[in-house]
Amino acid sequence: MRILITGGAGFIGSHTAERVLVGGHETAILDDLNDFYEITIKEQNLALVGAQGSVALYRGDIRDGAFVDRVFQEFRPEAVVHLAARAGVRPSLEEPVLYTDVNCLGTAVLLEAARRAGTHRFVFASSSSVYGLTQRIPFQEDDPDLRPISPYAGTKLACERLSYVYSHLYGIKVVCLRFFTVYGPRQRPDLAISKFIECVETGREIPFFGDGQMGRDYTFVSDTIDGILAALNINCPYGVFNLGNSFPVTLSEMVAEIERATHREAKLRRLPVPPGDVPITYADLTKSEAALGYRPKVLFAEGIRRTVEWYRAWKRGTDERTGPGAGTAG
Ligand SMILES: NC(=O)c1ccc[n+]([C@@H]2O[C@H](COP(=O)([O-])OP(=O)(O)OC[C@H]3O[C@@H](n4cnc5c(N)ncnc54)[C@H](O)[C@@H]3O)[C@@H](O)[C@H]2O)c1
Repeated sequence: MRILITGGAGFIGSHTAERVLVGGHETAILDDLNDFYEITIKEQNLALVGAQGSVALYRGDIRDGAFVDRVFQEFRPEAVVHLAARAGVRPSLEEPVLYTDVNCLGTAVLLEAARRAGTHRFVFASSSSVYGLTQRIPFQEDDPDLRPISPYAGTKLACERLSYVYSHLYGIKVVCLRFFTVYGPRQRPDLAISKFIECVETGREIPFFGDGQMGRDYTFVSDTIDGILAALNINCPYGVFNLGNSFPVTLSEMVAEIERATHREAKLRRLPVPPGDVPITYADLTKSEAALGYRPKVLFAEGIRRTVEWYRAWKRGTDERTGPGAGTAG
């Protein structure tokens, strides 16, 4: 299959691209390599992808219709895995217009390009945040009372609905995957697990929100990628699926697991729960198991151990590249 991966220089996108290449698919990446976090990290991600096989890189913005049309004309994708977005709940409260612009307009531009180019498959990266403050726990895809409480969550729900329109009107097979806090090697540096590992390893304080009872259904990245690959092969006109772990872990348990894996004690800076954060995420996996054969394999303790191992190797590499002691201060 010819597969276009938007956001392929990012955390989940680069893992997806590696696995798609290993599977023998013709692959292209569309990414603007913006500075939401360090661009060198995205360049390192791309180098790892390139080591798995030949991949075309189209550098540009998903909101740029002429550019996106050119990519579709040149590469002629049979499927799109659309991961490019402004990600993250908390920063979306600071820049709601930017989040709406990139996520909603960008998705509309891609769906239009797919329609014009005759691309029949579209996998969209949605988020557990669309459930927001729903009272139905664990979260089920057919919940009629979704209550998103951040601009980011609102954009993801809007894009699910917009992509439904394209499946209905133009027969594009759309699969929306609701990811639940994905972690593992190369995790975005703004997300809690990578931020906390860095803090513990460098002796800095962890920003610890609330009483530590907030629960997140952390999902190891290889399990998420299994779900994405399965979504590329199912035969349904439109579907929404949870890709979680169905095993919520509290903030306190998460920090304790990092302490065990690093053999270091965490220092906590206690802060109030930020607006936009929900008390719990918890995926019901009945539907995704039945339709996608999705079954997460990596237990949380094992996933944290692998992430710490990766972090240490990555840090050693960074320090060697940038000189002795660089990047470890503070
Ligand atoms: N990481 C998670 O826990 C998680 C959870 C739920 C949903 N998601 C969704 O999964 C997707 C991937 O997340 P990630 O954690 O890998 O994030 P990421 O920031 O590492 O990757 C996103 C990539 O998209 C690119 N991008 C952003 N805006 C762009 C634009 N206007 N044009 C072209 N490229 C652009 C970025 O440069 C980046 O490489 C996102 O859509 C995110 O909302 C992630």
